Amino acid sequence: MRIFTKLSAPLCPLFVFLCLKTAFSTTHLCSYEEALALLQFKTSFSINYTIPYPDSCGEIYSKIESWKRGIDCCSWDGVSCDNVTGHVIALNLSCSFLYGTFPSNSTLFFLRNLQSLNLAFNDFRLSKIPPEISLFTRLKHLDISYSQFSGQVPAEIAHLPKLVSLNLSNYDLILETTTFKNLVHNLSEVRELVLNAVNMTSVNPRFFMNLSSSLTTLDLWESALRGNFPNSIFHFPNLKNFYLSGNRNLTIDLPSSNWSSPLQQLYLGDMHCGRRLRESVGDLKSLQSLSLGCNLEGSIPASIGNLSQLTYLSLFYNNLSGQIPSSLANLTQLTSLYLYRNQFSGPILSSICNLRQLTSLYLSSNNLSEQIPSSLANLTQLTYLYLHRNQFSGPIPASIGNLRQLTILGLYSNNLSGQIPSSLANLTQLTYLGLFDNQFSGPIPASIGNLRQLTSLGLSYNNLSGQIPSSLANLTRLTYLYLELNQFSGPIPASIGISFLVPFLFMLLGFPN
Ligand SMILES: *[C@@H]1O[C@H](CO)[C@@H](O)[C@H](O)[C@H]1NC(C)=O
Ligand SMILES: *[C@@H]1O[C@H](CO)[C@@H](O)[C@H](O)[C@H]1NC(C)=O
Ligand SMILES: *[C@@H]1O[C@H](CO)[C@@H](O)[C@H](O)[C@H]1NC(C)=O
Ligand SMILES: *[C@@H]1O[C@H](CO)[C@@H](O)[C@H](O)[C@H]1NC(C)=O
Ligand SMILES: *[C@@H]1O[C@H](CO)[C@@H](O)[C@H](O)[C@H]1NC(C)=O
Ligand SMILES: *[C@@H]1O[C@H](CO)[C@@H](O)[C@H](O)[C@H]1NC(C)=O
Ligand SMILES: *[C@@H]1O[C@H](CO)[C@@H](O)[C@H](O)[C@H]1NC(C)=O
Ligand SMILES: *[C@@H]1O[C@H](CO)[C@@H](O)[C@H](O)[C@H]1NC(C)=O
Ligand SMILES: *[C@@H]1O[C@H](CO)[C@@H](O)[C@H](O)[C@H]1NC(C)=O
Ligand SMILES: *[C@@H]1O[C@H](CO)[C@@H](O)[C@H](O)[C@H]1NC(C)=O
Ligand SMILES: *[C@@H]1O[C@H](CO)[C@@H](O)[C@H](O)[C@H]1NC(C)=O
Ligand SMILES: *[C@@H]1O[C@H](CO)[C@@H](O)[C@H](O)[C@H]1NC(C)=O
Repeated sequence: MRIFTKLSAPLCPLFVFLCLKTAFSTTHLCSYEEALALLQFKTSFSINYTIPYPDSCGEIYSKIESWKRGIDCCSWDGVSCDNVTGHVIALNLSCSFLYGTFPSNSTLFFLRNLQSLNLAFNDFRLSKIPPEISLFTRLKHLDISYSQFSGQVPAEIAHLPKLVSLNLSNYDLILETTTFKNLVHNLSEVRELVLNAVNMTSVNPRFFMNLSSSLTTLDLWESALRGNFPNSIFHFPNLKNFYLSGNRNLTIDLPSSNWSSPLQQLYLGDMHCGRRLRESVGDLKSLQSLSLGCNLEGSIPASIGNLSQLTYLSLFYNNLSGQIPSSLANLTQLTSLYLYRNQFSGPILSSICNLRQLTSLYLSSNNLSEQIPSSLANLTQLTYLYLHRNQFSGPIPASIGNLRQLTILGLYSNNLSGQIPSSLANLTQLTYLGLFDNQFSGPIPASIGNLRQLTSLGLSYNNLSGQIPSSLANLTRLTYLYLELNQFSGPIPASIGISFLVPFLFMLLGFPN
């Protein structure tokens, strides 16, 4: 009450009081004091439909527009009341296009029965989080993410002991180590802690050990943490979602055994893991997404094939070596497989054709060799196929023409040879075709003119010969065409008009690889 009694005098001149008193007939569940507090809160901001908002916001409409006198506040958009007492208990103003600084004397703090407050995706213009937030002693859910709060998170954030989920994700917030220590100490029931992009550079990672064992989600993406993160986190009994990617100066040691957590999402990219990936990773039977980009060495353990729920596997930017294990073919739910920028060697096993759900296959920048298996053609959902910068040899299998969804095909910088198969002309969704820096011979198939979506065609550094087909003129979206360092003969076809001047300059002058 402290704040409101101070506020209420200027807020409630007699005429407003009378007007509200008549408007809020006894049939209203909402009390007129709470309705008034909300209306006053509304006037603190303008509605600005030009502030950035994500697609997930759906309809472009501020809920606050429906807030009007004479209508029970419990039926206003974004407002929920207790059916019995009529108190406002939940406020969801996410994506409401609120624009303006957030006053620390806001009448919002009058709503002492709030259990849930969501202010995500508004623009509070780099306001500080008001310390008065601690007046919401019954709060269980607080989400103020991406709403342009800035500065230090107030120490009072630790005075909300009932919090079950807390989302402070904002780019300009700083969370100090003492505040964080107290937060962890007091949030004994917290299940979801989301601090994406919050600057936690001063936080001692040791404090994470003391988090509640009820924790299910811990999101610390790009939060500038440094030092060693306690790997006891992998033994938390309820942890399902753990995101630690983008903390470049942070190390977490992967456990060598006994991962006891029911992890479903694990993201440790662009940081350090300090150890090899052990066979025990196969114990994480509930994993759906696994992303490790943290200087791992050694080979992928065969036990990875046990992770039968996996849909997303990303191991790029490590120093992994050895063969890609055949057990990977057991992961039949995979839609994305990223193994690029490692030192994998040996062939792509033909059993890869088991991964029928794959839409993205990135194996580029490794030492993979031998022929590209024709069984790849069974991966008919593929839209991205990156095999460039390896040592593949032999021809492109003609069956590649089955991959009708392909938009990007990167085969450059290998030792591929033979003719360019005319079946490529079936890949009518292709926007990028990179075949340069190989040993292809023979003519460019005229049917290449079917690839009407192509914006980039790279054929340079091969042994291609014959005439440049006039059908290239049909590739009207092309902005990059590289043909140099081949053995073409005959004239440049007349059908290729002035619109090709720019790409042909590249062709004639060559292009840095
Ligand atoms: C909040 O404080 C500012 C000045 O600090 C004042 O102008 C404003 O009227 C106050 N708002 C309310 C609702 O009392
Ligand atoms: C609306 O928000 C944009 C920033 O997203 C700001 O530049 C503009 O001035 C705001 N318009 C008004 C009327 O406040
Ligand atoms: C309150 O009433 C609404 C509509 O009648 C109902 O859907 C909701 O479950 C009720 N909530 C509680 C807590 O009783
Ligand atoms: C809160 O509002 C947003 C945007 O309107 C909506 O997508 C979301 O489902 C709401 N959350 C709850 C718990 O109702
Ligand atoms: C825990 O919260 C209570 C209020 O709920 C507060 O008085 C206390 O200072 C907090 N403890 C810490 C360590 O912040
Ligand atoms: C913030 O985190 C909570 C808890 O995990 C989550 O439910 C909510 O969707 C998040 N908010 C946004 C805008 O992503
Ligand atoms: C985090 O905050 C510190 C000051 O506490 C600042 O020096 C540093 O640049 C910030 N880091 C980031 C990534 O913003
Ligand atoms: C990592 O640490 C180095 C040296 O201590 C520092 O220069 C760099 O800014 C840090 N990077 C991040 C993202 O914190
Ligand atoms: C892969 O599946 C085969 C047959 O379904 C099974 O025999 C094998 O043990 C599995 N391998 C792994 C590593 O899961
Ligand atoms: C695709 O899978 C079928 C069995 O489902 C198999 O008979 C065929 O050989 C495979 N195609 C290729 C090109 O391997
Ligand atoms: C390419 O398409 C043609 C006609 O649509 C079809 O006859 C041919 O088998 C296809 N080739 C491949 C390799 O998919
Ligand atoms: C371009 O496509 C059209 C229609 O498919 C075809 O008739 C024409 O011959 C093609 N042009 C060239 C130069 O191949």
